[in-house]
Amino acid sequence: MPTNFDELLDRFHAYLRGVDSALVQDAVARIGWNMPARALAPRPLGCLRHLDRATELTPPDARALVHLLAQQRDELHWGQTYSESDFGKAFIDNYGWLEMFGTRGHFVNDAVAAGLLILGPDIVYPDHHHVAEEIYIPLTGGTDWRMGEGGFRKRQAGEVIHHVSNVNHAMLTGSEPLLALYIWRGGPLAQKSTITGTAMQGRG
Ligand SMILES: [Fe+2]
Repeated sequence: MPTNFDELLDRFHAYLRGVDSALVQDAVARIGWNMPARALAPRPLGCLRHLDRATELTPPDARALVHLLAQQRDELHWGQTYSESDFGKAFIDNYGWLEMFGTRGHFVNDAVAAGLLILGPDIVYPDHHHVAEEIYIPLTGGTDWRMGEGGFRKRQAGEVIHHVSNVNHAMLTGSEPLLALYIWRGGPLAQKSTITGTAMQGRG
């Protein structure tokens, strides 16, 4: 019997319902949560080694979700949009995402994609953009985020970060890993981002 991820989806939904943000609640309300499951083969990645530390850093309201995620990590189908030629080997060894639902995730949804992103410590995710609108909620703090032409700003766990269509954004982790929840809507849901930054960005 393949692992059932219904409870993980329930906790994902429950966490989002508790986020105090009109933008997030609008997104949650538009999602049809009764989604059919999609059978995907387990695909663990190297970045999963950061999940234990990320669990310790997670605020109480996200703990139930992250705890189950950590428990089921090796059964889930983790993905990478980039390859070593994009951002180098250190990035690839410290990066991965889980599509909870969407056009290729564990539950089928053709209108909205959502999931969780992991980045290890001291990683630069250079400037990139995409057509889809994106809502990020970091579940661990301490990462610097940048949007548009602005500078890097440290964001706390639970903050809501909104990237409108095609705006550049970048992340720079510090001494701790980043675990972040994301929602993509209003554009191609499996599109590879357009990269405009370099791995040197933010250093120096
Ligand atoms: Fe993005």
